[in-house]
Amino acid sequence: MTQTTRAVIAKGAGGPEVLEVTEAPLAQPGPRELLVRVRAAGVNRPDVMQRQGNYPPPPGASEVLGLELAGEVEAVGLEVQHFAVGSRVMGLVASGAYADRAILPEQTAIAVPDDLSMVEAGAVPETFFTVWSNVFERAKLQSGETILIHGGTSGIGTTATMLAKTIGANVIVTAGSDEKCKACLKLGADHAINYKSDDFVTAARDLTGGRGPDVVLDMVGADYFQRNLEVVAEDGRISQIAFQTGSRTDLDLGPLLFKRLTMTGSTLRARPIEMKERLAQAVEKHVGPLLASGAVRPLIDSTFALEDVAKAHARMDSSQHIGKIVLTTD
Ligand SMILES: NC(=O)c1ccc[n+]([C@@H]2O[C@H](COP(=O)([O-])OP(=O)(O)OC[C@H]3O[C@@H](n4cnc5c(N)ncnc54)[C@H](OP(=O)(O)O)[C@@H]3O)[C@@H](O)[C@H]2O)c1
Repeated sequence: MTQTTRAVIAKGAGGPEVLEVTEAPLAQPGPRELLVRVRAAGVNRPDVMQRQGNYPPPPGASEVLGLELAGEVEAVGLEVQHFAVGSRVMGLVASGAYADRAILPEQTAIAVPDDLSMVEAGAVPETFFTVWSNVFERAKLQSGETILIHGGTSGIGTTATMLAKTIGANVIVTAGSDEKCKACLKLGADHAINYKSDDFVTAARDLTGGRGPDVVLDMVGADYFQRNLEVVAEDGRISQIAFQTGSRTDLDLGPLLFKRLTMTGSTLRARPIEMKERLAQAVEKHVGPLLASGAVRPLIDSTFALEDVAKAHARMDSSQHIGKIVLTTD
């Protein structure tokens, strides 16, 4: 008999009202997979894009929403080496996290440190993996450098701020209100620019003695391409992780040559499992101790029960959140 689980799907493309809690089929764990009793699942902007019909799951992945989860292992595949029934795990899935039970590849799973709650753990994988990959590996942020983080209060922005501070970087963020700017400063950002009242190019230059930031982390896209090229320092790096205002525009790429810039970008969801495994190991090695000691904790905006998933998405749609929105199943 096929096993099922309570799970969230989108019954069409649209607003939060298309989300439906239903019974969905649940596969048996494959050789290197874990069956997890999900306790918490983070809500990420890509889930909103999927709900809107703009970000379909990769081939072979289920229609159940959700890219990250935390919970206890209920069963393990025959070749699983690092986890056993009862292990507390958090990890990345290509889909399926908004559910009571989910299949998690062992390769993308990390043990949950004792003092991290399930809600906090469910908010870790997607943003910590993304930030580690794009800020530290690709853009190579170094101690003593300055990073400009757009979307300072986003799940990604709050994670990038905390991690950049742990290596001794100078952090400037942008956010869309004074209240959000205050929250960024409270979290540890050195400076926060309200991009609705101030021009971030002028402000970030002033804050760096005219030099500009060494690294720019951008999720805004077309509206910011030219201004990111203008603001970034010589030999700077621009790391592009989303195109919220589009991916096409008319650009003067002169600064790329004259300032010897590096532009990079990446996605995570559809990447090969080997890449995600390597990334999970890097996050566990470099960030695991910070999570275990409490030096870094994901900033939680709010939690919603799984059956209130539409309310959770409405909150993300409103863009009022500061930090992560998390679904719980208990
Ligand atoms: N490439 C990857 O691997 C990857 C992985 C995960 C997420 N992402 C992307 O990273 C972004 C953040 O994800 P999240 O889950 O952390 O989402 P989120 O919490 O909803 O954050 C979105 C942020 O974008 C800002 N924003 C929206 N429109 C803007 C505009 N026109 N100008 C300036 N800022 C704007 C919002 O800030 P204000 O309210 O202050 O405007 C908000 O802080 C999303 O675009 C997501 O798709 C990429």
